[in-house]
Amino acid sequence: MRSIASSVLLASALAAGCGPKVFPLASTGIIAAKDDAELVARGEYLFHGAGACSGCHTTIEQGVAIKAGDRPAPSGGHVWKMGPLGTLYSPNITQDAKTGVGAWADDDLARMIKHGQRPDGTAGVFMVFAVGHIADDDVRALVSYMRTIAPVANEVPRHDIGLLGKMVLGGIEPRSYDGKAAPPPVGPTVERGRYLAWGPCDCRGCHSEADGFAVKAGREFVGADAPMESEIEGDTNKYLAPNLTPDPSGIAGKWTEEQFLQRFKEGRTQKGSPMPWGNFQNLQEDDVKALWAYLKTLPPTKKDFPLTVIPKK
Ligand code: HEC
Ligand code: HEC
Repeated sequence: MRSIASSVLLASALAAGCGPKVFPLASTGIIAAKDDAELVARGEYLFHGAGACSGCHTTIEQGVAIKAGDRPAPSGGHVWKMGPLGTLYSPNITQDAKTGVGAWADDDLARMIKHGQRPDGTAGVFMVFAVGHIADDDVRALVSYMRTIAPVANEVPRHDIGLLGKMVLGGIEPRSYDGKAAPPPVGPTVERGRYLAWGPCDCRGCHSEADGFAVKAGREFVGADAPMESEIEGDTNKYLAPNLTPDPSGIAGKWTEEQFLQRFKEGRTQKGSPMPWGNFQNLQEDDVKALWAYLKTLPPTKKDFPLTVIPKK
Protein backbone atom coordinates (compact mmCIF):
# COMPACT_ATOMS: atom_id res chain seq x y z
CA MET A 1 0.00 0.00 0.00
CA ARG A 2 2.64 2.38 1.13
CA SER A 3 4.73 1.67 -1.91
CA ILE A 4 1.81 2.28 -4.27
CA ALA A 5 1.02 5.59 -2.59
CA SER A 6 4.62 6.72 -2.74
CA SER A 7 5.04 5.74 -6.41
CA VAL A 8 2.03 7.89 -7.25
CA LEU A 9 3.54 10.79 -5.32
CA LEU A 10 6.87 10.21 -6.95
CA ALA A 11 5.36 10.04 -10.43
CA SER A 12 3.79 13.43 -9.89
CA ALA A 13 7.02 14.84 -8.49
CA LEU A 14 8.84 13.62 -11.60
CA ALA A 15 6.15 15.04 -13.84
CA ALA A 16 6.83 18.36 -12.13
CA GLY A 17 10.48 17.96 -13.09
CA CYS A 18 11.97 17.30 -9.66
CA GLY A 19 12.37 14.45 -7.24
CA PRO A 20 14.77 11.55 -6.86
CA LYS A 21 15.64 9.22 -9.71
CA VAL A 22 13.65 6.02 -10.04
CA PHE A 23 15.51 2.84 -10.98
CA PRO A 24 13.96 -0.45 -12.15
CA LEU A 25 13.28 -2.62 -9.10
CA ALA A 26 16.12 -5.05 -8.38
CA SER A 27 15.00 -8.63 -8.03
CA THR A 28 15.72 -10.23 -4.68
CA GLY A 29 14.61 -13.64 -5.87
CA ILE A 30 11.61 -13.23 -3.54
CA ILE A 31 13.24 -13.59 -0.16
CA ALA A 32 10.46 -14.48 2.26
CA ALA A 33 10.63 -14.54 6.05
CA LYS A 34 10.40 -17.95 7.68
CA ASP A 35 9.22 -18.89 11.13
CA ASP A 36 12.30 -20.98 11.79
CA ALA A 37 14.15 -20.75 15.11
CA GLU A 38 17.61 -21.29 13.64
CA LEU A 39 17.05 -18.66 10.94
CA VAL A 40 15.62 -16.13 13.41
CA ALA A 41 18.59 -16.64 15.76
CA ARG A 42 21.02 -16.10 12.88
CA GLY A 43 19.13 -12.95 11.91
CA GLU A 44 19.30 -11.67 15.48
CA TYR A 45 23.07 -12.25 15.51
CA LEU A 46 23.48 -10.35 12.24
CA PHE A 47 21.13 -7.56 13.28
CA HIS A 48 22.71 -6.76 16.65
CA GLY A 49 26.20 -8.11 15.99
CA ALA A 50 27.92 -8.48 12.61
CA GLY A 51 25.53 -6.25 10.62
CA ALA A 52 25.35 -3.52 13.28
CA CYS A 53 21.80 -2.67 12.14
CA SER A 54 20.83 -1.65 15.67
CA GLY A 55 23.85 0.68 15.86
CA CYS A 56 22.34 2.94 13.17
CA HIS A 57 18.62 2.35 13.63
CA THR A 58 18.60 3.85 17.14
CA THR A 59 19.44 7.35 18.37
CA ILE A 60 23.11 8.34 18.51
CA GLU A 61 23.06 8.08 22.32
CA GLN A 62 21.53 4.59 22.18
CA GLY A 63 23.87 3.49 19.41
CA VAL A 64 27.10 4.39 21.22
CA ALA A 65 25.82 2.85 24.47
CA ILE A 66 25.40 -0.61 22.88
CA LYS A 67 27.47 -3.34 24.51
CA ALA A 68 27.60 -7.13 24.40
CA GLY A 69 24.18 -8.70 24.84
CA ASP A 70 22.12 -5.51 24.31
CA ARG A 71 19.07 -5.69 22.05
CA PRO A 72 17.81 -2.09 21.71
CA ALA A 73 14.55 -1.61 19.78
CA PRO A 74 15.47 -0.27 16.33
CA SER A 75 12.97 2.58 16.49
CA GLY A 76 15.26 4.94 14.56
CA GLY A 77 16.18 8.54 15.16
CA HIS A 78 19.92 8.64 14.42
CA VAL A 79 20.52 12.10 12.93
CA TRP A 80 23.22 12.86 10.35
CA LYS A 81 23.71 16.59 9.90
CA MET A 82 25.39 16.85 6.54
CA GLY A 83 25.87 20.60 6.35
CA PRO A 84 24.58 22.15 3.12
CA LEU A 85 23.41 18.75 1.84
CA GLY A 86 20.74 18.49 4.48
CA THR A 87 19.85 16.24 7.41
CA LEU A 88 19.26 12.50 7.22
CA TYR A 89 17.50 10.31 9.76
CA SER A 90 17.58 6.56 10.31
CA PRO A 91 14.02 5.23 10.10
CA ASN A 92 12.09 3.17 12.62
CA ILE A 93 12.43 -0.46 11.50
CA THR A 94 10.41 -2.09 14.27
CA GLN A 95 7.22 -3.91 13.25
CA ASP A 96 4.97 -0.93 13.96
CA ALA A 97 2.68 -0.75 10.93
CA LYS A 98 2.35 3.04 10.87
CA THR A 99 5.74 4.41 11.92
CA GLY A 100 7.91 1.32 11.30
CA VAL A 101 8.16 -1.36 8.62
CA GLY A 102 5.35 -3.64 9.85
CA ALA A 103 3.42 -3.06 6.62
CA TRP A 104 6.37 -3.64 4.27
CA ALA A 105 6.41 -6.84 2.21
CA ASP A 106 9.27 -9.28 2.88
CA ASP A 107 10.61 -8.68 -0.59
CA ASP A 108 10.67 -4.90 -0.06
CA LEU A 109 12.66 -5.33 3.16
CA ALA A 110 15.03 -7.73 1.41
CA ARG A 111 15.58 -5.29 -1.48
CA MET A 112 16.40 -2.47 0.93
CA ILE A 113 18.92 -4.64 2.80
CA LYS A 114 20.52 -6.22 -0.25
CA HIS A 115 20.41 -3.37 -2.77
CA GLY A 116 19.65 -0.20 -0.83
CA GLN A 117 16.56 0.36 -2.95
CA ARG A 118 13.27 1.66 -1.64
CA PRO A 119 9.98 0.05 -2.73
CA ASP A 120 9.32 3.06 -5.01
CA GLY A 121 12.50 2.37 -6.98
CA THR A 122 14.57 5.23 -5.57
CA ALA A 123 17.89 4.65 -3.81
CA GLY A 124 17.77 4.51 0.00
CA VAL A 125 20.95 6.54 0.12
CA PHE A 126 22.64 5.26 3.29
CA MET A 127 21.57 1.67 2.77
CA VAL A 128 23.46 1.59 -0.53
CA PHE A 129 26.71 1.54 1.40
CA ALA A 130 25.73 0.66 5.01
CA VAL A 131 25.53 -3.04 4.21
CA GLY A 132 28.10 -4.92 2.15
CA HIS A 133 27.73 -7.92 -0.11
CA ILE A 134 25.38 -10.11 1.83
CA ALA A 135 24.28 -13.66 0.99
CA ASP A 136 20.61 -14.34 0.30
CA ASP A 137 20.25 -16.73 3.24
CA ASP A 138 21.53 -14.01 5.58
CA VAL A 139 19.07 -11.50 4.09
CA ARG A 140 16.32 -14.09 4.69
CA ALA A 141 17.58 -14.53 8.28
CA LEU A 142 17.49 -10.76 8.85
CA VAL A 143 13.97 -10.38 7.44
CA SER A 144 12.80 -13.38 9.52
CA TYR A 145 14.28 -11.89 12.70
CA MET A 146 12.86 -8.44 11.93
CA ARG A 147 9.35 -9.93 11.88
CA THR A 148 9.82 -10.89 15.56
CA ILE A 149 10.76 -7.34 16.69
CA ALA A 150 8.07 -5.81 18.90
CA PRO A 151 6.37 -2.74 17.36
CA VAL A 152 7.42 0.61 18.80
CA ALA A 153 5.48 3.69 17.69
CA ASN A 154 8.05 6.39 16.93
CA GLU A 155 7.55 8.82 14.08
CA VAL A 156 10.94 9.72 12.61
CA PRO A 157 11.05 12.72 10.25
CA ARG A 158 11.82 12.02 6.58
CA HIS A 159 15.17 13.30 5.36
CA ASP A 160 15.41 17.03 4.93
CA ILE A 161 17.50 17.33 1.78
CA GLY A 162 18.18 20.66 0.11
CA LEU A 163 18.75 21.31 -3.58
CA LEU A 164 22.50 20.64 -3.34
CA GLY A 165 21.79 17.45 -1.42
CA LYS A 166 19.38 16.32 -4.14
CA MET A 167 22.03 16.90 -6.78
CA VAL A 168 24.76 15.05 -4.88
CA LEU A 169 22.69 12.24 -3.36
CA GLY A 170 20.61 11.92 -6.54
CA GLY A 171 23.67 10.42 -8.26
CA ILE A 172 23.72 7.41 -5.94
CA GLU A 173 22.35 4.25 -7.50
CA PRO A 174 21.00 1.18 -5.73
CA ARG A 175 23.75 -1.41 -5.24
CA SER A 176 23.61 -4.11 -7.88
CA TYR A 177 24.81 -7.37 -6.45
CA ASP A 178 23.83 -10.86 -7.50
CA GLY A 179 24.60 -12.35 -4.15
CA LYS A 180 25.66 -15.79 -3.14
CA ALA A 181 22.87 -18.07 -2.02
CA ALA A 182 24.48 -19.10 1.27
CA PRO A 183 27.15 -17.53 3.49
CA PRO A 184 30.28 -19.58 4.26
CA PRO A 185 29.71 -21.65 7.43
CA VAL A 186 30.87 -20.17 10.75
CA GLY A 187 34.45 -21.19 11.50
CA PRO A 188 37.87 -19.51 11.73
CA THR A 189 38.40 -19.69 7.95
CA VAL A 190 39.72 -17.12 5.47
CA GLU A 191 36.57 -17.57 3.37
CA ARG A 192 34.26 -16.73 6.28
CA GLY A 193 36.47 -13.76 7.22
CA ARG A 194 36.39 -12.42 3.69
CA TYR A 195 32.61 -12.71 3.61
CA LEU A 196 32.23 -10.83 6.90
CA ALA A 197 34.73 -8.11 5.97
CA TRP A 198 33.09 -7.39 2.60
CA GLY A 199 29.58 -8.32 3.64
CA PRO A 200 27.66 -7.90 6.90
CA CYS A 201 30.51 -6.29 8.95
CA ASP A 202 31.57 -4.08 6.02
CA CYS A 203 35.05 -3.45 7.45
CA ARG A 204 35.99 -2.69 3.85
CA GLY A 205 33.53 0.22 3.66
CA CYS A 206 35.37 2.24 6.33
CA HIS A 207 38.92 0.89 6.18
CA SER A 208 39.52 1.57 2.47
CA GLU A 209 40.45 4.54 0.36
CA ALA A 210 37.12 5.61 -0.94
CA ASP A 211 35.86 7.36 -3.98
CA GLY A 212 32.78 9.32 -2.97
CA PHE A 213 30.45 7.43 -0.69
CA ALA A 214 32.58 4.30 -0.36
CA VAL A 215 30.52 2.86 -3.19
CA LYS A 216 33.55 2.54 -5.43
CA ALA A 217 36.49 2.06 -3.12
CA GLY A 218 40.12 2.73 -3.96
CA ARG A 219 42.79 0.54 -2.37
CA GLU A 220 41.01 -1.88 -0.07
CA PHE A 221 41.76 -2.22 3.66
CA VAL A 222 44.72 0.19 3.62
CA GLY A 223 42.81 2.61 5.85
CA ALA A 224 40.55 5.55 5.10
CA ASP A 225 41.96 8.59 3.30
CA ALA A 226 40.54 11.04 5.79
CA PRO A 227 39.42 10.98 9.41
CA MET A 228 35.70 10.83 10.17
CA GLU A 229 33.90 13.39 12.31
CA SER A 230 32.38 12.32 15.58
CA GLU A 231 28.61 12.23 15.52
CA ILE A 232 28.43 13.14 19.18
CA GLU A 233 27.61 16.76 19.90
CA GLY A 234 30.54 18.42 21.65
CA ASP A 235 33.12 15.72 20.78
CA THR A 236 35.79 17.51 18.75
CA ASN A 237 37.92 14.39 18.13
CA LYS A 238 38.13 12.92 14.65
CA TYR A 239 38.56 9.22 13.99
CA LEU A 240 40.79 7.68 11.33
CA ALA A 241 40.08 4.09 10.28
CA PRO A 242 43.60 2.57 10.17
CA ASN A 243 45.41 0.32 7.69
CA LEU A 244 44.40 -3.29 8.42
CA THR A 245 46.85 -5.07 6.06
CA PRO A 246 49.70 -7.30 7.31
CA ASP A 247 52.38 -4.71 6.44
CA PRO A 248 54.42 -3.58 9.49
CA SER A 249 52.48 -0.29 9.21
CA GLY A 250 49.09 -2.09 9.36
CA ILE A 251 47.10 -3.67 12.17
CA ALA A 252 47.58 -7.26 10.89
CA GLY A 253 51.33 -6.59 10.82
CA LYS A 254 51.63 -4.84 14.17
CA TRP A 255 49.23 -6.85 16.29
CA THR A 256 49.03 -10.49 17.33
CA GLU A 257 45.87 -12.52 16.90
CA GLU A 258 45.52 -12.46 20.68
CA GLN A 259 45.54 -8.63 20.73
CA PHE A 260 42.98 -8.54 17.93
CA LEU A 261 40.63 -10.95 19.75
CA GLN A 262 41.11 -8.98 22.97
CA ARG A 263 40.34 -5.66 21.27
CA PHE A 264 37.01 -7.00 19.96
CA LYS A 265 36.11 -8.37 23.43
CA GLU A 266 36.80 -4.96 24.94
CA GLY A 267 34.15 -3.20 22.86
CA ARG A 268 33.81 0.56 22.63
CA THR A 269 36.58 2.57 24.27
CA GLN A 270 36.07 5.83 22.33
CA LYS A 271 32.59 7.18 22.80
CA GLY A 272 32.58 9.08 19.50
CA SER A 273 34.18 6.45 17.21
CA PRO A 274 32.00 5.68 14.19
CA MET A 275 33.07 2.01 14.32
CA PRO A 276 30.22 -0.05 15.82
CA TRP A 277 32.41 -1.61 18.53
CA GLY A 278 29.41 -2.33 20.78
CA ASN A 279 27.67 -4.38 18.09
CA PHE A 280 30.92 -6.15 17.20
CA GLN A 281 31.36 -7.08 20.87
CA ASN A 282 28.58 -9.59 20.10
CA LEU A 283 30.73 -11.34 17.46
CA GLN A 284 31.43 -14.95 18.27
CA GLU A 285 35.10 -15.77 18.70
CA ASP A 286 35.22 -17.90 15.53
CA ASP A 287 34.04 -14.92 13.49
CA VAL A 288 36.72 -12.63 14.95
CA LYS A 289 39.31 -15.33 14.27
CA ALA A 290 38.00 -15.59 10.70
CA LEU A 291 38.39 -11.83 10.25
CA TRP A 292 41.96 -12.04 11.50
CA ALA A 293 42.73 -14.98 9.20
CA TYR A 294 41.40 -12.99 6.24
CA LEU A 295 43.29 -9.79 7.10
CA LYS A 296 46.50 -11.85 7.24
CA THR A 297 45.97 -12.86 3.57
CA LEU A 298 45.69 -9.27 2.27
CA PRO A 299 48.55 -7.85 0.20
CA PRO A 300 50.80 -6.07 2.73
CA THR A 301 50.57 -2.37 1.88
CA LYS A 302 52.63 0.33 3.53
CA LYS A 303 50.53 3.18 4.80
CA ASP A 304 51.28 4.70 8.15
CA PHE A 305 48.51 6.10 10.24
CA PRO A 306 49.69 8.62 12.78
CA LEU A 307 46.81 8.38 15.22
CA THR A 308 43.38 6.79 15.05
CA VAL A 309 41.88 9.29 17.49
CA ILE A 310 42.81 12.79 16.41
CA PRO A 311 42.19 15.53 18.94
CA LYS A 312 41.22 19.00 17.71
CA LYS A 313 44.31 21.18 17.36
C1 HEC B 1 25.18 3.46 8.56
C2 HEC B 1 23.87 3.40 9.15
C3 HEC B 1 22.95 2.24 8.82
C4 HEC B 1 23.21 0.90 9.00
C5 HEC B 1 24.48 0.21 9.47
C6 HEC B 1 21.99 0.22 8.61
N1 HEC B 1 21.03 1.11 8.21
FE1 HEC B 1 19.17 0.65 7.49
N2 HEC B 1 18.87 2.60 7.02
C7 HEC B 1 19.72 3.66 7.31
C8 HEC B 1 19.17 4.89 6.74
C9 HEC B 1 19.78 6.27 6.85
C10 HEC B 1 17.96 4.53 6.10
C11 HEC B 1 17.04 5.43 5.27
C12 HEC B 1 17.36 5.19 3.82
C13 HEC B 1 16.68 6.12 2.87
O1 HEC B 1 15.53 5.89 2.55
O2 HEC B 1 17.32 7.07 2.44
C14 HEC B 1 17.79 3.09 6.30
C15 HEC B 1 16.70 2.36 5.84
C16 HEC B 1 16.44 1.04 6.16
C17 HEC B 1 15.22 0.34 5.87
C18 HEC B 1 13.99 0.95 5.20
C19 HEC B 1 13.11 1.60 6.26
C20 HEC B 1 12.34 2.82 5.81
O3 HEC B 1 11.31 3.12 6.41
O4 HEC B 1 12.79 3.50 4.87
C21 HEC B 1 15.37 -0.95 6.32
C22 HEC B 1 14.36 -2.09 6.23
C23 HEC B 1 16.70 -1.05 6.90
N3 HEC B 1 17.33 0.17 6.79
C24 HEC B 1 17.22 -2.19 7.46
C25 HEC B 1 18.55 -2.31 7.91
C26 HEC B 1 19.17 -3.56 8.30
C27 HEC B 1 18.47 -4.90 8.38
C28 HEC B 1 20.47 -3.27 8.59
C29 HEC B 1 21.58 -4.22 9.01
C30 HEC B 1 21.89 -5.30 8.07
C31 HEC B 1 20.65 -1.84 8.42
N4 HEC B 1 19.48 -1.29 7.99
C32 HEC B 1 21.84 -1.16 8.66
C33 HEC B 1 20.92 3.57 8.00
C34 HEC B 1 21.58 2.36 8.32
C1 HEC C 1 31.71 2.74 10.33
C2 HEC C 1 33.13 2.64 10.06
C3 HEC C 1 33.91 1.43 10.50
C4 HEC C 1 33.61 0.09 10.33
C5 HEC C 1 32.37 -0.52 9.70
C6 HEC C 1 34.72 -0.64 10.85
N1 HEC C 1 35.66 0.21 11.34
FE1 HEC C 1 37.38 -0.32 12.31
N2 HEC C 1 37.71 1.63 12.79
C7 HEC C 1 37.01 2.71 12.30
C8 HEC C 1 37.56 3.93 12.85
C9 HEC C 1 37.07 5.33 12.53
C10 HEC C 1 38.63 3.56 13.69
C11 HEC C 1 39.53 4.46 14.56
C12 HEC C 1 38.85 4.80 15.89
C13 HEC C 1 38.73 3.61 16.82
O1 HEC C 1 39.76 3.00 17.19
O2 HEC C 1 37.61 3.26 17.18
C14 HEC C 1 38.71 2.09 13.63
C15 HEC C 1 39.65 1.33 14.30
C16 HEC C 1 39.86 -0.02 14.10
C17 HEC C 1 40.93 -0.80 14.69
C18 HEC C 1 42.02 -0.25 15.63
C19 HEC C 1 41.51 -0.18 17.04
C20 HEC C 1 42.52 0.32 18.05
O3 HEC C 1 42.26 0.12 19.26
O4 HEC C 1 43.56 0.90 17.67
C21 HEC C 1 40.77 -2.09 14.25
C22 HEC C 1 41.63 -3.29 14.62
C23 HEC C 1 39.62 -2.12 13.38
N3 HEC C 1 39.09 -0.84 13.32
C24 HEC C 1 39.17 -3.23 12.71
C25 HEC C 1 37.94 -3.29 12.04
C26 HEC C 1 37.36 -4.52 11.51
C27 HEC C 1 38.05 -5.86 11.52
C28 HEC C 1 36.13 -4.19 11.03
C29 HEC C 1 35.07 -5.12 10.50
C30 HEC C 1 34.71 -6.20 11.39
C31 HEC C 1 35.96 -2.74 11.21
N4 HEC C 1 37.07 -2.26 11.81
C32 HEC C 1 34.82 -2.04 10.83
C33 HEC C 1 35.90 2.65 11.48
C34 HEC C 1 35.21 1.49 11.14
